[in-house]
Amino acid sequence: MLKISIKTQLLSSILIVLLLSMGVLFYFSYNNFKEKVNNSQAHVYNQKIDNILFLIEQKYNILKKTGMEVAFKESFQEGTIKVLKEIFYKNELDSSLLPFVISDEKEYLLHGKYKQKNKKIYEKEKNYLITLELKEGDITLLHKDKDIWIVFKHFKQWDWIIGFEVPTSLKYKELYAYRNEFLITLLIILVLISLSIIIIVRYILKPIDSLSKVSKEIASGNLDTPIAIYGSMELSILAKNFIIMRDKIKASIKELENHNIILEDKVKYRTTELEKSYKELEQILKNLNITQEKLIESEKMASLGGLVAGVAHEINTPIGIGITAITHFLEMNKNIIKLYDKNEMSQEEFEDFLKTSKELAQMIFVNLNKTATLIKSFKQVSVDQISEDKRCFNLKEYINDTLLSISNITKKTQIDIKVEGNNDIMLNSYPGAFSQVISNLVINSIRHAYGIKDKGCILINIESRDKNLIIKYKDDGKGIKKEHLSKIFNPFFTTNRESGGTGLGLNIIYNIINNNLKGKITCVSEEGKGVLFKIVIPLSL
Ligand SMILES: Nc1ncnc2c1ncn2[C@@H]1O[C@H](COP(=O)(O)OP(=O)(O)O)[C@@H](O)[C@H]1O
Ligand SMILES: [Mg+2]
Repeated sequence: MLKISIKTQLLSSILIVLLLSMGVLFYFSYNNFKEKVNNSQAHVYNQKIDNILFLIEQKYNILKKTGMEVAFKESFQEGTIKVLKEIFYKNELDSSLLPFVISDEKEYLLHGKYKQKNKKIYEKEKNYLITLELKEGDITLLHKDKDIWIVFKHFKQWDWIIGFEVPTSLKYKELYAYRNEFLITLLIILVLISLSIIIIVRYILKPIDSLSKVSKEIASGNLDTPIAIYGSMELSILAKNFIIMRDKIKASIKELENHNIILEDKVKYRTTELEKSYKELEQILKNLNITQEKLIESEKMASLGGLVAGVAHEINTPIGIGITAITHFLEMNKNIIKLYDKNEMSQEEFEDFLKTSKELAQMIFVNLNKTATLIKSFKQVSVDQISEDKRCFNLKEYINDTLLSISNITKKTQIDIKVEGNNDIMLNSYPGAFSQVISNLVINSIRHAYGIKDKGCILINIESRDKNLIIKYKDDGKGIKKEHLSKIFNPFFTTNRESGGTGLGLNIIYNIINNNLKGKITCVSEEGKGVLFKIVIPLSL
């Protein structure tokens, strides 16, 4: 957008307003004056013509008195014209003023321009022709590029037209003088006003302008821009105040800078503090992670411990029976050796020894066999839990082995555990992971879903569908509260901390299934309606 300076704006607006008002004033006063001039000029010239008419009438009356109007008419008329000429050309008037007399024959009897006698009016001289037509009045018309004003009257007796041809320049002499004076005055006023505006601009606007430039500089940060004190008193005061303000700003900026430095120091200090506490927190987190790992390890060890306890419990009976039997056999053997050494052994005694020792050996064999089978299945499960090797196994059999390994826990309860589904699912996977999942789920059911003497039923269903293995684990226990359901897989979430719950069991299951087996586990449960864990794992890993 075009920016116009205050100076130009001021100057142009004042000039426009002035010119407009002067124009209006001039228009009205000029027209008024013109009207007055018209009236007065008409009056003056009519008066003059009346005087001439009076003179002619006198002559005419004298002629009439002679009684020989026709005979003397011409000479009387000539005499009259002579008198008129004398009056006009000797005494009268401005040379530009043209009095005229026209006869009834359209001849100039008297005309300033045509000194010769009785000149005919040219066809072109419309102005005079019009006077002949109108006989009396006044007209203004353009004649030879000049405005002329003609005033005329009729002398009926001789049918003469008597009048004056006045150039409008003469007629409006005073009007034009007035106009010129007005214009000169206007010009002087304009010059004066322009001068005063220039002075105003120099003494008021220029300092304001320079102040505005300085303020712009200061606003853009150049606080050292010099501020000149000049112009009117008020403006000098303004400039001085401006300097004070600028200095104050400078001081505040300095103060602010100092503040900033202090603040920066503070921030630095706080940052190092924060870094320190961040490091401490990092350390704490590390420790927590280590603790968590340890806990997970101990949770694993706990289930392994359960396994060992299971083994111990299961093989306790057959080994006990074996020990009792072999102790009995050793006692019997000692007695029979004694009898044999003394040579006192009867036939009956020896037969009895043989019979009993056979029975004992049989008993020992059966129990050792039982122990061996138990250890075999325990061994596999426990080795799998420690090692993380992949191998081929039958899923259903492996689940049964796992259940057997925790039978010392399950046996004490009234809970019936059933494994259903496809018997032939063979997996090439990590068996340890499966035994961990199943044993953790079963131990959770026993711990959380049922009271000590509650009866219950756990159903484990396995099937393969498309390329997935689906394991559904269901119990009919207490179920999980709605507000807990979303948290059960979180590490350390437990409703059982007082009784030693770590809250890691389901988290371990979740990690095993997601990370090791690349599957998904979800849980559906309602309070009082048991739980259903659904595990989906890709068959080929
Ligand atoms: N079968 C279940 N029935 C009811 N609640 C269960 C069952 N399994 C798990 N929960 C709930 O999930 C929580 C988390 O289980 P878990 O991660 O194994 O930790 P913990 O057994 O140490 O409490 C348990 O505290 C319990 O509230
Ligand atoms: Mg648990």
